[in-house]
Amino acid sequence: MAHSIHTGEEAFTKVFGEPVWQYHADRPEANDLMNQVMSRESEAMIDDLVAAYDFSPFGTVVDVGGGEGALLAGILAATPGLNGIVFDQPHVVSDVLLRSEGLAHRTKAVGGDFFDSVPEGGDAYVLKWVLHDWSDEKCVEILACVRAAMSPGGTLLVVESVIEPGNDPAPSKILDMVMLVLNGGQERTREQFETLLRRAGFHVNRVLPMASSSSSIIEATAIEANQK
Ligand SMILES: C[S@@+](CC[C@H](N)C(=O)[O-])C[C@H]1O[C@@H](n2cnc3c(N)ncnc32)[C@H](O)[C@@H]1O
Repeated sequence: MAHSIHTGEEAFTKVFGEPVWQYHADRPEANDLMNQVMSRESEAMIDDLVAAYDFSPFGTVVDVGGGEGALLAGILAATPGLNGIVFDQPHVVSDVLLRSEGLAHRTKAVGGDFFDSVPEGGDAYVLKWVLHDWSDEKCVEILACVRAAMSPGGTLLVVESVIEPGNDPAPSKILDMVMLVLNGGQERTREQFETLLRRAGFHVNRVLPMASSSSSIIEATAIEANQK
């Protein structure tokens, strides 16, 4: 923490000798634990998410950095007729959850690097708890890859805590420090999300709170390059 406060940089690499996502890639047990935690957290959120947002207008939803597909499985189970693609690092992505939910015929699991490209063909793209892992510059790179896969008018749903500006205490501000230490990431205010998304070719339409989650759904639309 002291290293991060002094330098503004992540401390994980200084302590463990490699960046956090590489650390998990190199250690199957740590990777498995991380993915299980993420899946259980997603399962706990799913009822609130599908109550707050109607996915039925979409044909295909792509969950970018979607881990083992737990969130996607919940969205698809609540939305008959919707197809889905879960995209994550090759050693993380899996269709086990999707198959166990009996959703295999509506889904695909794709491995890759969201700094290179993400699957095309989605009407909606979801980024849940991905952007807070990264600095603004890295977020713009990820968002630019997502934008490149989308058509103008496509929908992006960012699921993150939206913090209030200023220094009043809030539980999600603890995560702000955790993200800085782990990977140079941060929690963001609505204005910070709007700026970030605008830089990558998106316009924020609305921010929807969820009943019992500290995260919100930030709905944005992919705009034409000359509209930025
Ligand atoms: C904090 S987890 C969130 C997982 C999932 N969205 C959820 O909320 O349960 C961040 C995800 O980003 C993925 N990730 C990290 N670097 C990546 C990369 N370069 N390409 C694709 N996915 C990546 C991780 O494997 C992990 O599953």
